[in-house]
Amino acid sequence: MTRSSELSSTPAFDLEGGFDERRALIDGALDRLLPGESVEPVSVHQAIRWSVFAGGKRFRPILLLTTGEVFGARPEVLLTTACALEMIHTYSLIHDDLPSMDDDELRRGRPTCHIRFDEATAILAGDALQTLAFQIIADESLLSADKRVLLVSELGRAAGTPAGMVAGQARDLAAESRAVTSGELEQIHSLKTAALIIAAARCGAIIAEATDLELEAVGKYAAQLGLLFQITDDLLDVTATAETLGKTPGKDARAQKATYPSLYGIENAHQRAELVHQEACAVLERIDKPTEPLRAIADFILNRKA
Ligand code: IPE
Ligand code: IPE
Ligand code: MG
Ligand code: MG
Ligand code: MG
Repeated sequence: MTRSSELSSTPAFDLEGGFDERRALIDGALDRLLPGESVEPVSVHQAIRWSVFAGGKRFRPILLLTTGEVFGARPEVLLTTACALEMIHTYSLIHDDLPSMDDDELRRGRPTCHIRFDEATAILAGDALQTLAFQIIADESLLSADKRVLLVSELGRAAGTPAGMVAGQARDLAAESRAVTSGELEQIHSLKTAALIIAAARCGAIIAEATDLELEAVGKYAAQLGLLFQITDDLLDVTATAETLGKTPGKDARAQKATYPSLYGIENAHQRAELVHQEACAVLERIDKPTEPLRAIADFILNRKA
């Protein structure tokens, strides 16, 4: 077989098909792992399921599965950690929407958790999702005890403080109504959003036993991808409708949030997104594995409409 026929016989990575298939796997596993709505305390379990099954994109668990598969792991061994990450992400959204934080009423196309239930229930639903995430990894018999410890450590660091999502959320709130430098803005976005996205890629690679060099490279790719994800989130807040977004647009300007469009303007924010996308793709060149699906994910995030 000649080189060119080898190339032409390789089907392009089907991102949409890959997304749908993985999303179905993740949703099935989440359903099995979360307490049923009739289990006491029912208010907390109803609130958890209200928020988890409201139709999120499942981007972080899909990235975890895809990265793990790029490095040779089977989806079955990746699935529990992927669900843990989605639980932590959903908890972060429930708390992000609370009146004392971003004070939002629409999420994933539905009334937010504290609007549909009440504030105390929303706080508890978030707390429970976070602890369950760590518990399901600790209990996963398909993974060695050593790997479970590594994964718990990775997720704890990425979700918490001083180097994770909680630290970013604190900085985001502290930056409301005041001028920030471009460096501060990048740091806020890297902590509040990129940290969990880096964890998604690294956890997939850890489960697949990638080398230290591969782990470092895939972490750098995901750091750019995470920054890109929040730049596009900021842009969509200005340019999209509630219908496509599933959340109320225009909130960032009203809350005087530090965002890429507010600091650079829409056109320049788009240009920075292009640049960060290029940097993410450039890092993939250093990985001697079939990274085409990771490139397709970066393309998808650059062009996303929701
Ligand atoms: C929203 O995340 C919060 C950010 C970090 C920007 P997503 O855009 O992934 O939200 P869902 O999970 O699809 O609802
Ligand atoms: C979210 O940033 C970061 C989180 C850790 C949840 P945003 O506050 O911009 O997210 P949305 O726009 O409400 O989804
Ligand atoms: Mg926020
Ligand atoms: Mg918000
Ligand atoms: Mg936003």
